Amino acid sequence: MNEIEQIALDKIAGNDYEIYALLKQRYSPRVFDEKPIDDANLKRLFEAVRWSASSSNLQPWRFIYAHKGSDGYDKILNCLSDFNQTWASNAPVLMLTAYKENKPDGEENFHALHDLGLGMGSLSVQAQYMGIAVHHMAGVDWKKAQEVFEVPEGYHVTTAVAIGYYGGELEKLSDELQEQETADRTREPQHKFVFENAWNHPQEK
Ligand SMILES: Cc1cc2nc3c(=O)[nH]c(=O)nc-3n(C[C@H](O)[C@H](O)[C@H](O)COP(=O)(O)O)c2cc1C
Repeated sequence: MNEIEQIALDKIAGNDYEIYALLKQRYSPRVFDEKPIDDANLKRLFEAVRWSASSSNLQPWRFIYAHKGSDGYDKILNCLSDFNQTWASNAPVLMLTAYKENKPDGEENFHALHDLGLGMGSLSVQAQYMGIAVHHMAGVDWKKAQEVFEVPEGYHVTTAVAIGYYGGELEKLSDELQEQETADRTREPQHKFVFENAWNHPQEK
């Protein structure tokens, strides 16, 4: 077993209650295998989004992706925060996510961001099934991305995403990031965020 395979094993969630294996195994790496993701497999990822639920079936999600070596890839990379730029270029595919802000009647679609997140959740599980890692990034200059990609009015760039097969070499990361890459995954216990009957009334089951 190589170093990255060992990390992937160590990253498996120490769940308190039994969950689907793909959910336990997913994590957000900062190194990736160099192997490109072909378009047929990318289409499978977007098909998972396509069949997600959305409020009034408005499907407000939008994506711009680019393969390493293309102009689009460099443009996305240049919109990332300095920190994210230090590792995201390890990914064979970079992507921007965006959502459509308004409903057909012109009112704000308050649930669009929810729907984009739900779609990305589906994409993440589909990706995990295919051995593909998805690392979401809030650290993106979304205004710059809107300009660079001439995103039309009424759409809001939300995150950038690094996508690639799990793998690669830990040595590609700085010492500090190597530490993060091998760190334990932690989560709040359910009683901190799940309430029964009343807000902040912890579930004691
Ligand atoms: C919306 C969103 C934004 C994130 N932004 C960043 C980011 O800018 N840079 C980064 O390195 N990780 C980012 N992450 C990854 C989180 O830090 C990571 O999901 C979290 O620490 C839990 O780790 P896990 O995904 O390995 O379970 C982001 C995740 C999400 C969902």
